Amino acid sequence: MKGKLELLVDKNNLPAHIVIIMDGNGRWAKKKNLDRISGHREGMKSVRAVVKSAKDLGVKHITLYAFSAQNWKRPKVEVNALMELLKQYLLKEGNKLVENGISLNAIGRLWELPQDVYKVLEETIEKTKDCQELTLTLALSYGGREEIIDAIKKMISHGNIAPEDINQSNFSRFLYTSDLPEPDLLIRTSGEMRLSNFMLWQLAYTEIYVTKTLWPNFRKRHLIKAILNYQRRERRFGLTGDQVKKREVI
Ligand code: FPP
Repeated sequence: MKGKLELLVDKNNLPAHIVIIMDGNGRWAKKKNLDRISGHREGMKSVRAVVKSAKDLGVKHITLYAFSAQNWKRPKVEVNALMELLKQYLLKEGNKLVENGISLNAIGRLWELPQDVYKVLEETIEKTKDCQELTLTLALSYGGREEIIDAIKKMISHGNIAPEDINQSNFSRFLYTSDLPEPDLLIRTSGEMRLSNFMLWQLAYTEIYVTKTLWPNFRKRHLIKAILNYQRRERRFGLTGDQVKKREVI
């Protein structure tokens, strides 16, 4: 059954791609006198709830910033726990993803992941590859600057692009996100106002929504609130409001 809030969502103006910086697991745990890993474990419940909700609402792409290139510098116990949680998620959720028509994708320096995690990730991606309802992309060992550097390396080793021929469209084909639409909505939980090296290229015209809700408390109603807020915005892509109203080419 649809809640009252969901009925307010304009299904013709859904963000096609929502990206989320899932922040606040540590603070959630601290408030409850628990260790940080308990916060991440609780955060997994939000991952499950939000992915299912996005699919039920009709969103086509969701990308979650699950582990940054900089997160490797966290204490070893925390890094190991996060890798283990990720592996458990993939092992447990694989079949549910298929049942829900959700295809899994991953971006980042995936080759830096522990071998066992990488293997389960690859298997889950393969298992879900024909699913059409929603694409769930996990950003793992991901950094926006690292992605741009990796794209430049690929472009140069590709060999046959003259500097004068480089443009935004052919450059973006070398990014990890080449198969994804540009994000329409970025949600960051726990109130911090920063990008933390996430999708630096892709977020150029993305609408940003920051909520004080800590990630482990984030559920479907919070996602709907973010979408409703997005639907009240006027996206201008550098044009004037009048131009947008007249529906001039964007
Ligand atoms: C940020 O909170 C969160 C992370 C670095 C990890 C996010 C991981 C999960 C939600 C669980 C595993 C994910 C998947 C997709 C299976 P923080 O630790 O920086 O929180 P703090 O700022 O309050 O300390």
